[in-house]
Amino acid sequence: MLTLEEVIVSPPAAGEVLDLTALFGCAAPLEIEIGTGKGTFLLNRAKAMPERNFFGLEWANQYYLYAAARVVRWGLSNIRLMRTDARHLVIHQLPPESVRILHIYHPDPWPKKRHHKRRLFQPEFVAAAARILLPGGRLAIQTDHAEYFSWIRRVVAEYQGLVEIPFDCPESGVIAGRVATNFEVKYLREGRPIYQIALMKIGV
Ligand SMILES: C[S@@+](CC[C@H](N)C(=O)[O-])C[C@H]1O[C@@H](n2cnc3c(N)ncnc32)[C@H](O)[C@@H]1O
Repeated sequence: MLTLEEVIVSPPAAGEVLDLTALFGCAAPLEIEIGTGKGTFLLNRAKAMPERNFFGLEWANQYYLYAAARVVRWGLSNIRLMRTDARHLVIHQLPPESVRILHIYHPDPWPKKRHHKRRLFQPEFVAAAARILLPGGRLAIQTDHAEYFSWIRRVVAEYQGLVEIPFDCPESGVIAGRVATNFEVKYLREGRPIYQIALMKIGV
């Protein structure tokens, strides 16, 4: 069982690439979730798959502390959480071809046009996300925002090294389209539509 100090890991120093094996103390297939929020998806997934490692990235202090406390309470040893800007970490500080699945569920939609530049999904980010995936690795995305979904579809389609695959995938913990994040549960209860897309990294 891990302590809070062991679950929470510090961002690497400027210019350094994160050593993922050292982070977990063992090599195992790695999944990353960006924007873990309160951590419901990541915790359930890590509990179901103890033979994999799970790395959650979240920049909101209160959410990541809440999720970290849950990891300790649940007694999970295969999760690490980092408070950081995931965009910067993915683009500059994660090693290539290291991630089996990258989960991004309900990324902030930044609906106002003048804020679109703050959206996570930009060409530079998509190229970096593909770079950190293993060949055959999966990028799974879900949002409740129709216009942001069209934007995401366009940006990922422009990147040559990713092909669309079915979203349903028991191997990724997704059964019949249900990911079961906190936001998904809330929005489904409100009757809002949910948009999903999954992509696989191919060699180009
Ligand atoms: C709308 S919430 C969704 C939370 C969770 N994925 C869910 O579906 O319940 C988006 C989360 O992403 C986090 N986030 C947004 N941009 C981020 C970034 N660049 N790096 C890390 N976390 C980010 C926010 O703080 C927030 O907790």
